[in-house]
Amino acid sequence: MDSGIALAKKSDIPLMLEFWRNTPEIELGGDDEESLAVFIQRNPSTCLIIRNEDGIIGAVLGGFDGRRAFVYHLAVHSDFRGQGYGKKLLDKLITQFKAFKTEKVHLFVLNNNHAAMTFYVKQGWVKRQDIAVFSYNSKK
Ligand SMILES: CC(C)(COP(=O)(O)OP(=O)(O)OC[C@H]1O[C@@H](n2cnc3c(N)ncnc32)[C@H](O)[C@@H]1OP(=O)(O)O)[C@@H](O)C(=O)NCCC(=O)NCCS
Repeated sequence: MDSGIALAKKSDIPLMLEFWRNTPEIELGGDDEESLAVFIQRNPSTCLIIRNEDGIIGAVLGGFDGRRAFVYHLAVHSDFRGQGYGKKLLDKLITQFKAFKTEKVHLFVLNNNHAAMTFYVKQGWVKRQDIAVFSYNSKK
């Protein structure tokens, strides 16, 4: 893949998990090696990483459910922020989503993550005022 961005593979998962665990703004929500392997297998063209010889510079998971697309866990290593990597990953992900002809892409941001909100607004995303997120614990 171009611009230093690669498709994430199953073998990248341990490093990706470590990267996100070291990124306090990322809420992993119970993701582990097993669940991420399933996710990448189901979404092989929309899980992206940028790496250098020392490790991961940035990563993002994209998921398509047949109707809408979702962005999860976009993060850039703190040493590399403000250099365009986040925008590059997000732009590439949107390009990849275009193959699905989905009308909309959604993402969740924690209410206290104002920096991420500012970043997304700059990239043309709109914060919804008309929708509240509801979750149900399907394990109970
Ligand atoms: C949000 C994040 C992915 C942005 O990545 P990044 O590589 O630093 O962003 P970029 O360098 O690509 O910035 C793109 C644009 O957004 C702006 N921007 C990025 N972070 C910003 C911030 N905190 N405040 C204001 N503007 C910001 C940049 O100035 C740039 O604007 P420009 O195009 O006018 O130059 C990164 O800060 C990050 O990993 N944060 C922690 C994880 C996180 O919160 N992820 C979101 C989970 S929902």
